[in-house]
Amino acid sequence: MNKTQFLDARNIGAIYMCGIIGVIGQDAPSLVVHGLKMLEYRGYDSSGVAVISEGTLEIRKNTGKLEEVEKKEKFSELNGNISIGHNRWCTHGAVTKENSHPHTDCTESIAVVHNGIIENYLELKEKLIANGHSFKTQTDTEIVPHLIEEKINAGKNFETAVKETCNKLEGRFAIVVVKKDEKQMIGARRGSPLVMGIGDGKYFLASDVPAFLSSTRKVIFLEDNEMAVIGSEAKILNFKTNVAVQRQVQEISWTAEEAEKGEYPHYLIKEIMEQGVSLHRAVNQDETRIKEVAQMINAAFGTYIVGCGTAGKVGLAGTYIFSKVAKKHINFAIGSEFPQYHDFLTPKSLTIAISQSGETADTLEAMEATKETGGKLASIVNVMGSTMQRMSDGYIMVNAGPEKAVASTKATTGQLAILYLLAFASAGKLPEGKQLLDKTCGAISGMLNKELTEKVKTLANKLKSHENIYIIGRGLNYPIALEAAIKLQEVSYIHAEGFAGGELKHGPLALITKDTPCIVLVGNDETRKDVLSNAREIKARGGYIIGISPENSEVFDEWIQVPDVGICSPIVNIIPIQLLAYFIGVEKGNDIDRCRNLAKAVTVK
Ligand code: AGP
Repeated sequence: MNKTQFLDARNIGAIYMCGIIGVIGQDAPSLVVHGLKMLEYRGYDSSGVAVISEGTLEIRKNTGKLEEVEKKEKFSELNGNISIGHNRWCTHGAVTKENSHPHTDCTESIAVVHNGIIENYLELKEKLIANGHSFKTQTDTEIVPHLIEEKINAGKNFETAVKETCNKLEGRFAIVVVKKDEKQMIGARRGSPLVMGIGDGKYFLASDVPAFLSSTRKVIFLEDNEMAVIGSEAKILNFKTNVAVQRQVQEISWTAEEAEKGEYPHYLIKEIMEQGVSLHRAVNQDETRIKEVAQMINAAFGTYIVGCGTAGKVGLAGTYIFSKVAKKHINFAIGSEFPQYHDFLTPKSLTIAISQSGETADTLEAMEATKETGGKLASIVNVMGSTMQRMSDGYIMVNAGPEKAVASTKATTGQLAILYLLAFASAGKLPEGKQLLDKTCGAISGMLNKELTEKVKTLANKLKSHENIYIIGRGLNYPIALEAAIKLQEVSYIHAEGFAGGELKHGPLALITKDTPCIVLVGNDETRKDVLSNAREIKARGGYIIGISPENSEVFDEWIQVPDVGICSPIVNIIPIQLLAYFIGVEKGNDIDRCRNLAKAVTVK
């Protein structure tokens, strides 16, 4: 991947963060629809399905959430053995039926679903129009079926036409293509993820594993510039070199149940409640990778953690964790700022990317910048086979299992735990760290009970009509105050802001009026006294104080008790806030798992 593959969103009419899937085998359309449901976290402004049956191609697509489109377009009526589908998430340009995928050529014989951005689409489109092609949409994707059509008209077979088309495309893409008179499905990728699933008499191609997890756990992750040609059998080749590629089938440890809501009304609450277990998996993983990355940190001259949004707040917490545990200075930058900040990188630098998806464009760009200077790369990611994991010299899996809600919860606490493990390992004290984190896992399983959820639900009722909520923390809990604000913003749609307790007197105190809710995150450490004193400053100005703390204090108007886990307090302190954001969101009738204007994997700059 090179820098030019990351596009500036301002230069293009339509930007996509999408989910794609293709299935070949019995019940293909219903498997595609199920896959789209599993991929909905990647985009949800329009959806579409194409089916090949007895030499015909049928496409049904529309705007709206998948469940609405599914009903409106009667996806259940579709039959055939080859099918592709798409969930679109457009942040620029119109959300229209025409712009929804799949897209077709002039003769409506070829259908394509696409995730990514084709940078040179305007130039290619002009040429195609000059050659007599007519276009029905404003998308970049539509040039793909027309290019394939052009090649086929020139006498190329389906496979060669797709291969040559891929070589004409600049930018990031994962595509799946079908043609009405072919018994094949072809997928190709560069820059955007595409994984092949191998089922019983079935093959799948999808943006992410949960799309087909109920059918198979056997997968092959396609690398950049590779295409999979799938009929009754499957082959993989490099479309640039035209050389066949042999790749080992991997078995995914995630289960289909983990990717489903089960008895819970929303993914978010399921993912919050399973944090005792997910954290245990993060902590009790094979130590080899942790030791490997700790060694990379110790060998580096300058380590930089990068991440965006919640992963960025975890990264900032990492700098405190390394200072406390390993007495080590680690730097942090948010992914989108790193390109303006990286001139000091040298071949001895190490960049550690933190990401749930492993596909966040801003973080990837920071990694690319490091690579260009010859520095080393490590990553802490949750999605196996993701771009970040594959481009890293060393990586550690978060092992949280599929995280479907747009708001990150269990991946967050897992990432924090990994940073603690890394800091302890870098200080040569890994067993001590594991012991502390094991205690934390137990404490979390214990605290996630009815008493806590009922208490937070009552608080949610009290806070739901407020316009502002402020959160303060000091030391290790300062980045958690920032993360708490993100949770409240994206799930409850309340204006929330996190501050370092000591900063209040430098400005934010002016925001406090009678009954302004202020959440105080308290760790049982040397910051306790000072943060409680900050809480008193707020209370003296009329603020309503909600303390999240192992011990009660006279300053709290409300007290949410959390277990005392020593320096691991950030991991337990964020959990009541996750619940609070959830219950306020539910009270307000918000779309809990699909936060307004946001997508799970932000694959554009
Ligand atoms: C998390 O609640 C947010 N939806 C968002 O900030 C997220 O953390 C960010 O987009 C980074 O995603 P990543 O972890 O997949 O890189």
